[in-house]
Amino acid sequence: MAAWQTFAYILASILFIMGLKMLGRAETAKRGNRLSAVGMLIAVIATLAAGGLDYTWIVLGLVIGGAIGAVAARRVQMTGMPEMVALLNGSGGLASMLVGTAEYVRVPEVPAFSAVAIMLTVLIGGIAASGSVVAFGKLSERIDGKPYLFRGQKVLNASLLALALLAAAVVVIDAAVIGNVGGVTAAFVLVLLLALALGVLAVIPIGGADMPIVVSLLNSYSGIAAAAAGFVIDNNVLVVAGSLVGASGLILTNIMCKAMNRSLANVLFGGFGAEITAGGAAAEGVVKPLTPEDAYFILEAAGSVVFVPGYGMAVAQAQHVVAELADLLVKNGADVRHAIHPVAGRMPGHMNVLLAEANVPYEQLVEPGDVNPNMETIDVAIVIGANDVVNPAAKEDPTSPLWGMPIIEVDRARTCFVLKRSMNPGFAGVDNLLFFKDNTRMIFGDAKATITGMVAAFKDA
Ligand code: TAP
Repeated sequence: MAAWQTFAYILASILFIMGLKMLGRAETAKRGNRLSAVGMLIAVIATLAAGGLDYTWIVLGLVIGGAIGAVAARRVQMTGMPEMVALLNGSGGLASMLVGTAEYVRVPEVPAFSAVAIMLTVLIGGIAASGSVVAFGKLSERIDGKPYLFRGQKVLNASLLALALLAAAVVVIDAAVIGNVGGVTAAFVLVLLLALALGVLAVIPIGGADMPIVVSLLNSYSGIAAAAAGFVIDNNVLVVAGSLVGASGLILTNIMCKAMNRSLANVLFGGFGAEITAGGAAAEGVVKPLTPEDAYFILEAAGSVVFVPGYGMAVAQAQHVVAELADLLVKNGADVRHAIHPVAGRMPGHMNVLLAEANVPYEQLVEPGDVNPNMETIDVAIVIGANDVVNPAAKEDPTSPLWGMPIIEVDRARTCFVLKRSMNPGFAGVDNLLFFKDNTRMIFGDAKATITGMVAAFKDA
């Protein structure tokens, strides 16, 4: 490799690391994203400029892939971002799987290290690819979100994984140890097919509220597959980029597990939400509806207000009117905060992004731990299209699938407004006990229309 190319790769790696660090804070996240993108551009140019390549296929791939990516990214609604992220994870895994396959076809006789790297690329890339497609289906509700469980599922998965590793070992021994005597194409194809099957089988038993953990884990798999592909084609910058994605995905998975108060093993093998119909007490009681105009009188007298946004705020695109109402409340003398649950919405940071887009001051954004201890002192908690993340079943009903998940405890606020369109349950499909609490008032309707009504009442007064 030429010295200039090594230098370009080091520069790109530095930009990736700096960019990743900047993603950790909302104020610097945009710049961090751009910095990483510049790093990737440098890496791509340095790789292509090295010469000795047939550019026809590369240009064709760039044009077709770039066009699809650009159109999809422009068209996607904010509410569709999680599905898009799942598909992009899958594309990363698929690309690595294809690189591994192409390299095996090109040079079947390789050293042991490369052979192992090829098989890891194919195996992990394949799992990430098909698993992400299932995650996409579940997130977009094209596939039922409930876990698919059957007798002997874990044994089947473990056996298929063992078979895949065995077949991979056969390919490695043939390619690296006994010098490609051949006849192992079937073993290679078996690894490929088993990897794709394992991706599907690993994700179907996971349901409902655990999807955030699965998506970040698949993200990490696609990174690990890319790092392995970097070893396959001897490209250092791909090893660095893949490792960064793999490691940050694992860290995010860990954060998500903590947010859900669950271990990774429990998520992967527990079949969460399987007993949704059997477990969990059915919520019953008297619902007390309220109009936005009546809500105004309570809000006007409130000294402290906590907004709790959820997926419904994203659907209603209510973030701008929420910011406007928050401003009016501050001007009215209230202490206003927005409490964001780590798994509210459908992707990490979903609510933060929406509220930042509406220019909500960062100091108003708080975590559940900042509001829960003093919830009794909050005059009004306004739940905007959130459901699972405020469901008291998590702490009151040991038979509930949500049992043990930390929630924002709005049920302990003096008054709680719940803004949603119906009595339907949230993403996990669990009835919400909050709707029947004495201090809860249901304000039915589209969240944006409801908040607009409250804003209008403030302005008219
Ligand atoms: P959810 O439990 O999904 O509930 C959202 C609520 O919004 C629904 O009950 C719905 O009720 C309401 N809604 C929808 N459109 C609305 C509109 N236009 N106006 C008003 N309300 C509307 O939301 P959550 O509390 O944010 O919980 C997130 C769930 O998704 C968790 O289970 C979480 O584990 C899961 N998840 C999260 C992620 C990440 S990383 N954040 C990723 C995948 C899955 P109506 O239909 O009655 O209006």
